[in-house]
Amino acid sequence: MPHTITVLPGDGIGPEVMDVALEVLDAASAKFNFEISRSTHLVGGAALDATNNETPLPKQTIEASEKADAILFGSVGGPKWENLPPDIQPERGALLPLRKHFGLFANLRPGSCLPALTHASPVKNELIPNGFDVLCVRELTGGIYFGEPKGREDHNGDPVAFDTMVYKKSEIENILHVAFKAAMGRDKKLTSVDKANVLATSVLWRETANEIAAHYPEVTMDHLYVDNAAMQMVKRPDSFDVLVTENLFGDILSDEMAMISGSLGMLPSASLGEAKDNGLNFGMYEPSGGSAPDIAGQGIANPIAQILSVSMMLRYSLGETTAADAIDAAVQSAIDSGLRTGDLFTGINGEKKVNTTEMGNAILETL
Ligand code: IPM
Ligand code: MG
Repeated sequence: MPHTITVLPGDGIGPEVMDVALEVLDAASAKFNFEISRSTHLVGGAALDATNNETPLPKQTIEASEKADAILFGSVGGPKWENLPPDIQPERGALLPLRKHFGLFANLRPGSCLPALTHASPVKNELIPNGFDVLCVRELTGGIYFGEPKGREDHNGDPVAFDTMVYKKSEIENILHVAFKAAMGRDKKLTSVDKANVLATSVLWRETANEIAAHYPEVTMDHLYVDNAAMQMVKRPDSFDVLVTENLFGDILSDEMAMISGSLGMLPSASLGEAKDNGLNFGMYEPSGGSAPDIAGQGIANPIAQILSVSMMLRYSLGETTAADAIDAAVQSAIDSGLRTGDLFTGINGEKKVNTTEMGNAILETL
């Protein structure tokens, strides 16, 4: 049986880095003997343009994805669509509904800084002599993003707007299990981030985390308040292994983590639903960096985040672990050989500046 995926390239640099990532996927499927059946669909601004601004998430895109094992996502958004009504803007009208529709509650964002790239990190290099490797596990379908009531009212000429942060214990349990399992496969260290000195949701979060911890005696867990976690992230990023937190805190901390890793162009992400009986998850895989409209169309974007998103997809949704390992190793070797797209290039240590295709080709060759 072939693996079925939908490909949603989207906007900005999405399509150009997707092309390269699909070449890598095809090479991996030829080399490791698995078949991929894939179809490409519209999402984001591309969908708005094609539907005369009707929707950034056409029905066909959802229906095709419902039949697939995974979604390989590029990126959405850009200045062209920023002034449309909020509900149909690419981010709010496509990304969030996709997460909710497919129950993608667990967002895995690996933020690593390879030792060869520490000079690209804004963190003082003496603080990270060996780089760092953090996995941020963000709850993705609850909290203030989706909580009701949410809205706006007029109070005698003084408008009031409100969002609600709400968590069910079961939602917290689910994401904590994902995080503990991830920690079991790594250095067995988990940091749970909350704001339990202020928020009721965080008190429930902390209580629940302590209960779930009893199921994973090998993992050492600690708790940090989110403000402190933000500080520690820039002071000692190499002290984190796995970090787990709720939706909004995870949004913010994962951008901070991405920034200190040197380049957004390196970081993939996976948004996973519940594990199936075979241990695999339906998932949506996308670069963390966004559509980068400023460099779109120039062929200079770093394709690595999209390529590593392919490898995460092979690992978590398709069960092709050997192929995933081989892609990760090929990316590592391209970096080790000194190739750098513009986002990483500093000109020191014999680095060679390359464009999107050249970086892709180097990775393909190793593969
Ligand atoms: C992210 C993005 C989204 C989020 C936006 C685009 C809605 O920032 O994936 O981190 O806030 O979740
Ligand atoms: Mg974000």
